[in-house]
Amino acid sequence: MNNAALLADEAQFCSFGDTVHYTNPPKIFARCEGSYLFDADDVPYLDLQMWYSAVNFGYANPRLNGALKRQIDTLPQVASQYLHAGRIELAKVIAQDAEKKWGSKGRVHFNVGGSQSIEDSLKLVRNACNGKSLMFAFEGGYHGRTLGASAITSSYRYRRRYGHFADRASFLPFPYHFRGPQGMSKEEHGDWCVKYFARLFETEYNGVWDPKAGECEYAAFYVEPIQGTGGYVIPPRNFFIDLKKVLDKYGILLVVDEIQMGFYRTGKLWAIEHFGVKPDILVFGKALTNGLNPLAGIWAREELINPTIFPPGSTHSTFASNPLGTAVGLETMKMLAETDYETLVMAKGQRFLEGLKELQRHHPEMGDVDGLGLALRAEICEADGFAPSKRLVDKMVEIGLAGELEHAGRKIGLVLDVGGYYKNVITLAPSLHVSDEEIDLGLKLLDQLLVKAKRA
Ligand SMILES: Cc1ncc(COP(=O)(O)O)c(C=O)c1O
Repeated sequence: MNNAALLADEAQFCSFGDTVHYTNPPKIFARCEGSYLFDADDVPYLDLQMWYSAVNFGYANPRLNGALKRQIDTLPQVASQYLHAGRIELAKVIAQDAEKKWGSKGRVHFNVGGSQSIEDSLKLVRNACNGKSLMFAFEGGYHGRTLGASAITSSYRYRRRYGHFADRASFLPFPYHFRGPQGMSKEEHGDWCVKYFARLFETEYNGVWDPKAGECEYAAFYVEPIQGTGGYVIPPRNFFIDLKKVLDKYGILLVVDEIQMGFYRTGKLWAIEHFGVKPDILVFGKALTNGLNPLAGIWAREELINPTIFPPGSTHSTFASNPLGTAVGLETMKMLAETDYETLVMAKGQRFLEGLKELQRHHPEMGDVDGLGLALRAEICEADGFAPSKRLVDKMVEIGLAGELEHAGRKIGLVLDVGGYYKNVITLAPSLHVSDEEIDLGLKLLDQLLVKAKRA
């Protein structure tokens, strides 16, 4: 069936509720390999967002695909109510790694997606805190779109039509330095955000703290170490250490959402490792299976998840810990243990970031560029380098997806993802296996895009 016929059927038979129609017309891809997606005419599109960081290890990664194929030939399916080796081994690898890093025993619980795992984490938190249902989260934070996850996600847009099924979080400012108060260094801005939060506990009249009972009304603080959908905003290195001091003082749990930044996106297995704090609960998803299977999960300290406090039946999904997903997840963890991804990702990230800085010198519209490992941001503005330009970014995305840029005499496209509080940030998440040549090509194509988008 050709693209026009597919689009006609899509218009008639598919819900528009997902984000497909953010581009017009919606894009149809036919195959993928490495850092590239290909359309029906086999035009390659260099992908600089890799399914919002779900495909960290390249499309059709032979090793991970191989693990999936082997599992299909042995134990392709078994109900989640039974055990299989992969599920236990994967939980063990993740829990042992956490114990080594943070000195805490813990357990892993799998589910079928990031949002569902966030829901599981909310159950753990509420259960451990005697049913307290109020959470802190950050402005610009994103934790998913199920009803519970949207309640702790900053955008009212995701809640507006559906009422309040879970208590809405209290959203605190995140150190988004580029748009922070004038005249503060990045570190000073981080301190300012922590002080703003700590002020809530000064007296009972600030609204969240009962000094007589020594109890906070809120159970946990949900954080992304680097904000994903919020525009790959990187806080200063001391930020979480200082925030955690406040949380510890007032008995508030720290839940770290690694769904987008985990699995070496930032050069560490977990992005929070850059910031020197221990999570009470960690939520992961996306790249665990390199996008081959919707498997996600949580790791939690033993006190929060042991079988007495979180007994059988506390949560369940038919496809949770399915054997295809755990087989790929286990292979991912083995691959990560065998290769020095930290050095690899930091070196490639540096090359990319330097290239972006060079590009910024020629395009004042690139108001801010920053990066940690291969989580990189380019904030697109008007010519003043500050006023957010969603218009220019949208044009760049559209031209990239048209597949009519040029490289070595051939047509080529560029796949970009857009995030940010003002929807003007190109959030770059290339394959961690991206070659130097592909990085250089990506920068060249970004340059072409900017030139064309500014002219359009
Ligand atoms: C930080 C973060 N948390 C949660 C989610 C939700 O995960 P899922 O889309 O798998 O439900 C996402 C997805 O983009 C995410 O980036």
